[in-house]
Amino acid sequence: MYLVTGSTGGIGRRVVRLLCERERRVRAFVRLTSRYGELEHRGANIFIGDLRQEKDIQKACQGVQYIISTHGSGNDSLSLDYRANIELIDSAKATGVVQHFVFISVLGADRGYEDAPVFKAKRAVEQYLKASGLNYTILRPSGLASNLLPLAERFRDTGLYLLVGDPKNRTSIVSTDDLARMVVDSVTVEAARDQILPVGGPEILLREDIPRIFGRIFSQEPVVINPPLFMIDGLRSALGLFNPQEQKALGTFRTLLANEFFCTNEEITNLERIFNLKLETLENFLQRYLAV
Ligand SMILES: NC(=O)c1ccc[n+]([C@@H]2O[C@H](COP(=O)([O-])OP(=O)(O)OC[C@H]3O[C@@H](n4cnc5c(N)ncnc54)[C@H](OP(=O)(O)O)[C@@H]3O)[C@@H](O)[C@H]2O)c1
Repeated sequence: MYLVTGSTGGIGRRVVRLLCERERRVRAFVRLTSRYGELEHRGANIFIGDLRQEKDIQKACQGVQYIISTHGSGNDSLSLDYRANIELIDSAKATGVVQHFVFISVLGADRGYEDAPVFKAKRAVEQYLKASGLNYTILRPSGLASNLLPLAERFRDTGLYLLVGDPKNRTSIVSTDDLARMVVDSVTVEAARDQILPVGGPEILLREDIPRIFGRIFSQEPVVINPPLFMIDGLRSALGLFNPQEQKALGTFRTLLANEFFCTNEEITNLERIFNLKLETLENFLQRYLAV
């Protein structure tokens, strides 16, 4: 039995689909408010709970051999990115039957960004998992292609693209379908065991390439709005006056905008070799989903 957290999210939903296609038994951890009908329809076993509740995590881990942690955190990194994953690891150890733990971290988790709660939580969980004695695979993706789908749809309607910060910053966006496959294969591929792997797409893009790709897909010249990064700083300062938690969460967002997140060609070649796949380009992913 596989336990998948975040199973209604961009990665988790694809992981559950793939496991169901491969006729594996899956327990999908969802919230009562989550949109989980499709997963149930595909044959996943639905576990309703809240990852902020230790008891729910302990119960969900019973009888599970593989744990795949893909949940996100909104603006509560301490409870979800950190505590929930620590509890998942502790519960996995306590059951004594978990054979592999797959954790979705983030590219750059090891760079010591002080002002980015998600990065700090991911790093701390990585270290805890490595020391746990469990078999593990830690995948560190850069951007996910599925995140760009709503932006592409907005572009189709308006021709506009909002690009905050330096348009020349490099990024390697991974197909979320490729990532889901790597997640699922991590538990069986020997070379992925006890590894921390940077994950990106097959090409290093500049952030300004993204509206160009949208433009090609929709045969429309992009209009790029490019506000400077200090506007985010202004917003953060204003927000901090009445919502300090949101201000901290914006620290992660600012870190993502201010830095480069890309994999080297060697890292991508290594990834393709380990998982025996040919990674798809961002343009290909978007074309498949947005076929016009
Ligand atoms: N997005 C990126 O570009 C990116 C890049 C690098 C790493 N990552 C990491 O990849 C992982 C998945 O990202 P994603 O974009 O696929 O996530 P996502 O689409 O934002 O999904 C988040 C998932 O977490 C669930 N969740 C949130 N709070 C929960 C709670 N209290 N109890 C139970 N479930 C809860 C959500 O359930 P609901 O459906 O109920 O909301 C949803 O299924 C995250 O760990 C993220 O940090 C993402």
